[in-house]
Amino acid sequence: MTAARITVNGEDTPIAPAAPHTTVLDFLRERGLTGAKEGCAEGECGACSVLVARPGTDKPTDWVAVNACLLPVAALDGQEVVTAEGLATPGEPGEPAALHPVQEEMAVRGGSQCGYCTPGFVCSMAAEYYRPDRCAHGTGESTGESTGEGPREGTGTEHGPNGFDLHALSGNLCRCTGYRPIRDAAFAVGAPAEDDPLARRREQTPPAPAATAYTRDGSTFLRPETLDDALRLLAGHPDAVVVAGSTDWGVEVNLRSRRADRVIAVDRLPELRGLRVESGHVEIGAALTLTEIERRLDGRVPLLAELFPQFASRLVRNSATLGGNLGTGSPIGDSPPVLLALDASVVLADTEGERTVPLADYFTGYRQSVRRPGELIRAVRIPLALSPVTAFHKIAKRRFDDISSVAVAFALDVEDGTVRKARIGLGGVAATPIRALAVEEALEGEPWTAETAEAAARVLRGQGTPMDDHRASSLYRSAMLGQSLLKLYAQTTEAVPS
Ligand code: FES
Ligand code: FES
Repeated sequence: MTAARITVNGEDTPIAPAAPHTTVLDFLRERGLTGAKEGCAEGECGACSVLVARPGTDKPTDWVAVNACLLPVAALDGQEVVTAEGLATPGEPGEPAALHPVQEEMAVRGGSQCGYCTPGFVCSMAAEYYRPDRCAHGTGESTGESTGEGPREGTGTEHGPNGFDLHALSGNLCRCTGYRPIRDAAFAVGAPAEDDPLARRREQTPPAPAATAYTRDGSTFLRPETLDDALRLLAGHPDAVVVAGSTDWGVEVNLRSRRADRVIAVDRLPELRGLRVESGHVEIGAALTLTEIERRLDGRVPLLAELFPQFASRLVRNSATLGGNLGTGSPIGDSPPVLLALDASVVLADTEGERTVPLADYFTGYRQSVRRPGELIRAVRIPLALSPVTAFHKIAKRRFDDISSVAVAFALDVEDGTVRKARIGLGGVAATPIRALAVEEALEGEPWTAETAEAAARVLRGQGTPMDDHRASSLYRSAMLGQSLLKLYAQTTEAVPS
């Protein structure tokens, strides 16, 4: 095992003397790379966005934008990072640097005022600029002069004519420029030039995960190479903190000053990164990021495809995993209602072997589950065939990058006008995510009519024990549950029940 190192803007840099809990953001800023900023320290503003070279879907390497405030720098041992400073091309002595195309567009279209958010926007924009299939969904050409009128007709409101997907910026907040000039810049970038170094870098494989054992001041960050190694480590230290994308643990470290003697990273374990579609089920590795799952499934599980754009932001989805979302056991996690509606199971592994637990039996209390000390979530299994009528309704104050007040996922089999099977997952109405069993019972065997939907909506309004808090009142939450079923009915029949 070699000393922990990271490549930053092409420069090989030792991680020491940073502490194991030091974030990538603090590490960079302490070295004078102050473009990335801290706005929130909890993954909500994107001011800290940087690019990391990761295994790609269409090319060997993707440039992936991540929240540097959440990721411990030790997690990037052996990896390559590019910051906003590294995107520009240094000039000859005495000459200014040449701006990167996304920086140029942000500058000329007025996409920056105070500039606090700008390096983060630029990195998120650059990741989308380099997405290999971006131009396949557009002309790859810029929009030319800004008209200020938004995207051209026929391109949708969230994709530019150049294929730019605005969801790439859903995790970046700007408080003074306003978003229209930023969108203009995003929709104006063309295709990368042939000799663009970061575009060329995509053709080579990304750095392999490094086996890491990094200790400073009594705390250790460990990255085992195999699942067996990870399980042995965990068996010996069942109180160790297990991280994948660190999107939850990073918040604990930053905002609640939590520290761990031992952190074990499982995000690059090959055994946790498979995705297989088999005859009886789809198996999704617990450590694949949500972005990787989204791209690799490519719509094959429509309910998941509906979930992903509503799960936090692209920046968070580039790190967050299903294993992490289930492992934290939050009652308002976005994936459990969907996975409950899909009748999913969790594959748990320890040194003795594996067991498979239906997700409906997995949660036992507030942030508690049947997962034993020493067990890891290896995968999530979704049985096939999928129910054809599905929907995910997340009720939150913002459309993107928000926490739900309540979330409802539906999966219904409707044959010859009758509901044969119903699975409904709920979040935000109890100490754990739950199945709406009474509503499922009220629907199964009934005709799929406005009357049935109205009756089941009344039952749904009474599910769980929704609380009053700063996000919503319990009455509002109950009302939204009922509306959700009426909305599903309207969506599936194109008629609003009376
Ligand atoms: Fe706000 Fe990182 S500082 S997302
Ligand atoms: Fe000031 Fe975005 S330019 S916050």
